[in-house]
Amino acid sequence: MSDPNLLSGAEIRRRFLDYFSRKLGHKAMPSASLVPNNPTVLITPAGMLPFVPIFLGIEPPTDPPRVVSVQKCARVSGKASDLENVGRTPRHHTFFEMLGNFSFGDYFKKEAITWTWAFVTGELGLDPKHLWVSVLKTDAMFDEEAFVIWRDEVGVPEDRILFCGEKDNFWGPPGPTGPCGPCSEIHYDREPGGPSPKDNLDLLDTDRFVEIWNLVFMELFQDAEGYRIPLDKKNIDTGMGLERIAMVVQGKDNTFETDLFWDIIQAVAKKAGVKYRIKSETDIALRIVADHLRFTVFAIGDGIMPSNEGRGYILRMIIRRAVRYGRKYLGFTEPALGQFVKTVVQQYGDVYPEIKQRYDLIVQTLAEEEARFLETLDRGLRLLEELIGDLKKSDRLHVPGDEAFRLYDTYGFPLELTVDIAEEEGLTVDREGFEKAMAEQRERARKARKGESIVDDQVYSEILAEVGPTRFLGYETLSAECTVKALILDGERVDAVSGTNRAFEVILDRTPFYAESGGQVGDRGTFSREDGHHGLTVVVNDTVKVGDLFVHKCLFDNGEEIRVGETVFAQVEPDYRQLAAIHHSATHLLNAALMQVLGDQVTQAGSYVSPEGARFDFTLNRAMTTSEIQRVEYLINKWIQENIPRSLEVMDIESAKASGAVAMFGEKYGDSVRVIAYGDRSRELCGGTHVNALGEIGLVKILSESSIASGVRRIEMVAGERAYKAFKILETELAKTADMLKAPVREVPQKVEKLMETLKSQDRLIRELEGKLAAQAVDALVSEIPAETPVLVRLLGGQSMDGLKRIAEQLADRLSSHVILLGSDEGGKAGFVCAVSPDQVERGIKAGDIVKRAASLCGGGGGGKPGFAQAGGRDGSKIQDALRTVEGEILARMHELKTG
Ligand code: SER
Repeated sequence: MSDPNLLSGAEIRRRFLDYFSRKLGHKAMPSASLVPNNPTVLITPAGMLPFVPIFLGIEPPTDPPRVVSVQKCARVSGKASDLENVGRTPRHHTFFEMLGNFSFGDYFKKEAITWTWAFVTGELGLDPKHLWVSVLKTDAMFDEEAFVIWRDEVGVPEDRILFCGEKDNFWGPPGPTGPCGPCSEIHYDREPGGPSPKDNLDLLDTDRFVEIWNLVFMELFQDAEGYRIPLDKKNIDTGMGLERIAMVVQGKDNTFETDLFWDIIQAVAKKAGVKYRIKSETDIALRIVADHLRFTVFAIGDGIMPSNEGRGYILRMIIRRAVRYGRKYLGFTEPALGQFVKTVVQQYGDVYPEIKQRYDLIVQTLAEEEARFLETLDRGLRLLEELIGDLKKSDRLHVPGDEAFRLYDTYGFPLELTVDIAEEEGLTVDREGFEKAMAEQRERARKARKGESIVDDQVYSEILAEVGPTRFLGYETLSAECTVKALILDGERVDAVSGTNRAFEVILDRTPFYAESGGQVGDRGTFSREDGHHGLTVVVNDTVKVGDLFVHKCLFDNGEEIRVGETVFAQVEPDYRQLAAIHHSATHLLNAALMQVLGDQVTQAGSYVSPEGARFDFTLNRAMTTSEIQRVEYLINKWIQENIPRSLEVMDIESAKASGAVAMFGEKYGDSVRVIAYGDRSRELCGGTHVNALGEIGLVKILSESSIASGVRRIEMVAGERAYKAFKILETELAKTADMLKAPVREVPQKVEKLMETLKSQDRLIRELEGKLAAQAVDALVSEIPAETPVLVRLLGGQSMDGLKRIAEQLADRLSSHVILLGSDEGGKAGFVCAVSPDQVERGIKAGDIVKRAASLCGGGGGGKPGFAQAGGRDGSKIQDALRTVEGEILARMHELKTG
């Protein structure tokens, strides 16, 4: 379906950036991560999100104060979720790309409106007879200015300008609080000449119309109570979904039929053995799977990993939804989704290289999630179907919340999935009941993890909006005079905290405390005030980051109270910081050494750095060999000795990447990132704290290399004094061993080798002796067997299974007709071996049946061939009785055969 005469998605992207940057002087910004640097939202929902601090005046505008971007976005959670529409309408997605131009106090309505019009009609060649525009008009507000610009400057006829209410023509804030404003939209009419939406605005919600571009006149700030106050500056935020504009430009009925999606749809359809556009049910499933795949690839590409919380939950939910649609409508009973990652990466990898770099991680994560969920999916589905059946029978069309929660808790069904399935059957789900059951479980878990404060994010957003981001002084200094800006006690903002040993949180205007991020733990230390009788000491146990706020987790040590507005002396614990720094710098060296030894295939998948040690996860499809590990450890220690000083460069992210700095997940795009370099040994983009010169690390020891998920390895490592201690422990253990061997340390290996040899030859001797003993036993046993009924049942206590087998085989060799059952209670367990000669087998006596019966009497099972079989049971104490019973049964059976 890709027609070379049509403008491709890639070409539209290019023209858009080009038009606004070259022609209209905008600064072109790369897409920020899907993981926003903003505590009020989980996943970037709009192109404007990275610029919120600029709109709010917290950060200065860019230079020039107008930018253009193509931003990775997703609408999967919160008020703007499009999830339920995906696949069912021609124009909704979870993940999508938003083309946007922005003005920070620079141009306003007139330019924004005329330029967007010129772009769609000129650059993209859309015929104005297909276009309608809308402006805000309610009883209270009329955006007359926009109306007049559309009519007089652009020349849109008055009867094609629609007046809409706040639902359509007021945008924002992107989270619970933030910038917002009235907006104007351009709608594309796929059937011009039809009834006018002017008379019936509901038509805009039908598939005849596609909203292609939203122009927000961002001039207000909305707080948590819903009050709106003017921003200092008037701004512009526009957003055009790439998939939608591609759909109208390419003349398709559906965004999924544009070149942006087509290969993905085709790949999925091919694997499923179905054709697109044959059956509506299958089409919906194909579109949902294609959409969810795209979301998954980009989410993992930005470092989101499936989990049960926050954005990890969203990713898991999306994957599980895709698995269910694939299972039900496309026949994917085995894991299938991982193989489509390739197609998505082929389509998007050149524009978004992060998904190319993390290709292996994406495939593996998706494949594992899928396999895991397929294990419980069928059982969960059966349970849900039964439940729905029962409910329907009694005319109850509402799935109770606790049942939905049980499905989630036991079978991993995200609520959204249960809702999907229930809706297909005409039922609704008690979401509130689900949330309640979930909250109860969380509360139980919270109590179990006593002492941790759980604070609603809302509190932080409010504080951030009020006091602005915390200034971090900790790169330059470990202590400073700071002002207390906010205090949080039990989740509530308070003016003062008093008493002893109560956990609370402190937010300062600026702080030398490093807050946990980039894998490095937060700083510890104290806040104090020295003024005669009213001295104060507060212990800071940890520092975390909530968006741009640094939150200090504190306990009272001494003093009467701490108040908002007062000045405290903040002191970071220097040793703690230094130990964290040596481990962090060592981790950078580890990353560089791994790349040198294993090649570029290694991608960091996560890290954790604390004063105690470091953990580093990376992608690799196999275990490292011992010599590779040694080489890595050697390189790190060699570089430490070179004692190269740290150099720090602050540069924009593009130059940083271009200069070869290793970039990690989720860095915020903006003008300045820190590049930490040690000569040309290591160069990484990093906000953490590091040693001044490599020699400070002293020594590094790798403790372990192991697998944590398929394709992901973990190295645990210690540095500095801890590395010395780790070596010391090994040395002590070795000395102890040498002592036991009565040999000098150097001779331990040879000594152990010799011991092993002695053990081996003794083993051989034991086996020989066992053989002889068995032969003797066999002689004795043979003489005990009566010729008329050649049945032998014996307990040979203490024999191993191997011993039993050997004796039974030797007996069988010596007797032409026989039924032999031997038992042993070695190790408290029951073991049985049975041999039956061919003539007895022919008569209907089977070794397999005999051992099965004997084992079943001792709580076990087993079986085998009619001529020879073995079995075991848990309970060795029952073996005597079991043998007696079975012997009786064999004799009775033989008697029966003889007489019958
Ligand atoms: N923020 C607006 C939107 O998301 C315009 O970019 O629609």
